[in-house]
Amino acid sequence: MAVELQHQSEISSGSLSFHDLAGALAGRQSIPGLTELYELIGRAGISQEEVQPYLGFKAGNYSRHRVMRNEFVEMLVLCWKPGQRTPIHDHNGSHGAVFVHEGILWETTFDYDAEKGLAYKSHRELRAGGLTGSEVPDIHQLGNPDVSGQDLITIHIYAPPLGVLKTYKLGSSTIDLYTPADPDFL
Ligand SMILES: [Fe+2]
Repeated sequence: MAVELQHQSEISSGSLSFHDLAGALAGRQSIPGLTELYELIGRAGISQEEVQPYLGFKAGNYSRHRVMRNEFVEMLVLCWKPGQRTPIHDHNGSHGAVFVHEGILWETTFDYDAEKGLAYKSHRELRAGGLTGSEVPDIHQLGNPDVSGQDLITIHIYAPPLGVLKTYKLGSSTIDLYTPADPDFL
C-alpha cells in the first residue's frame, strides 16, 4: 500500500529537521509502524544543507548512505544517477517509507503468484516532496529513469532494518536472495 503527499508545503512547514527525524528514530525502543514513519517524514522539513554530508554518486549502482541504524529502525539517503535502479524486490519482513528529496523517482509494483509467476501491477512517478512506502509483502522496483536528465536523492526509513531481501523476475516464480550493498558512507 502506498500513499503520496502531493503538497510540498506540508513537508516544508513541518517541525522536524533532518537531524530531529534521525534522532526521533534513534530513540525508538520498538519497531515503528508504517503509518508512524509516514507521519514522522510528513512533519520533516529537510534542508539541502543537512542532507549534503550524505550525498555521493557513483557509476554503476546507486549509492547508499546510512544516517542511523538501531535494533528497530534504520534511515538512509540513496543517491541515483539517471538509469540506476533496484532489482525487483520485497523487503523480507521489513516495511519502509521513501521520501523524494530531489529528482524524479519511478516506482513499479508487482503481483506474485507461485503458479503464474511475477506480473506487472502498477507504475507511478514521484517528484520532490513525494512519499511512498511498502508494506510487507509488497514487491516493487525503484529507480531514477534514464530519461530524467537529473540526479535523484531519496530518504529511506526501514523498520526493522533491512536484512537479506528477496528478488524476483518478471514472468518467473523463482525467488532469489539479495543483500543490498553495504552503505558507501556509514
Ligand atoms: Fe524497496
